[in-house]
Amino acid sequence: MTTADSHLTADRGRRSPSIKIEASRPLPAVGGQPDGVISLRQLSVYYNDFRAVSGVDMSFSSKEITALIGPSGCGKSTVLRCLNRMNDLVPGARVEGRVAYHGADIYGAGVDVIEVRRRIGMVFQKANPFPKSLYDNIAYGPRVTGMKIESMDDLVERALRGAALWDEVKDKLKDNAFGLSGGQQQRLCIARAIATSPEVILMDEPCSALDPIATGKIEDLMTELASEFTIIIVTHNMQQAARVSQRTAFFTAAADDKGQRTGALVEYAPTEQIFGNPVDPRTEDYISGRFG
Ligand SMILES: Nc1ncnc2c1ncn2[C@@H]1O[C@H](COP(=O)(O)OP(=O)(O)OP(=O)(O)O)[C@@H](O)[C@H]1O
Ligand SMILES: [Mg+2]
Repeated sequence: MTTADSHLTADRGRRSPSIKIEASRPLPAVGGQPDGVISLRQLSVYYNDFRAVSGVDMSFSSKEITALIGPSGCGKSTVLRCLNRMNDLVPGARVEGRVAYHGADIYGAGVDVIEVRRRIGMVFQKANPFPKSLYDNIAYGPRVTGMKIESMDDLVERALRGAALWDEVKDKLKDNAFGLSGGQQQRLCIARAIATSPEVILMDEPCSALDPIATGKIEDLMTELASEFTIIIVTHNMQQAARVSQRTAFFTAAADDKGQRTGALVEYAPTEQIFGNPVDPRTEDYISGRFG
């Protein structure tokens, strides 16, 4: 363990988590939506002067898969990154409105961003393992977040089993992660995300670089993980949204009078309704392939 790690661990061992899990001021439910784990109220996101997304009101259900769909540039990744403060890392990004996790504002004063990202993990479009062994990829998060762990070996095995990767890699845990196939690397990233025992996993097009077989494995895995985790996935693949999610949110971007294309939530409903009987004609146009 490095000095930085041990400092963080010791520090984190002393203090109580600063993000309050019990809601002191629960947000009122949005009509017809689940009163969920994460709730957005009037979320707008800017990159410098450019308003990328405006006025999003939605809640995400516990232990369900929610899909975010919509044409390129409508702000799906932008919204997803707000949910665990990943946009903090994007130069010029600014968030307005409220993002509540169990009613607690994750942008509030005194919130521990590392704790937010431990509880709300993320898997990216392109698998991004660390240039380390498989074992250390998994162990890294629990170490730096100062989790109290009885056996790291057991934790690594549990995470790899949870990501349906254990049988393929159990004899090469000390090998570098870059030696895995693309699909295995993505499952390693999912294992890394679940190793810190998050409640929510955000996935931004996690299968877009994978072939259909590797995609099928990740989809099966998502369905299994949803019994334990809340999953929010951005996907361009509408069949995938229809196959794996229970709820779907359709976003689109419309130009304002200054020509700025700002993304907005158009329709959010149970997946079968979005794909079978959408209310908004823009949703209908998109899912039937007439637009986007
Ligand atoms: N770092 C950034 N700096 C400036 N503008 C950005 C940045 N990231 C995204 N944008 C802009 O914000 C808008 C929303 O982008 P975002 O990446 O969220 O869209 P998306 O729906 O995820 O698109 P795609 O389907 O292509 O991934 C776009 O107009 C994009 O150009
Ligand atoms: Mg995107």
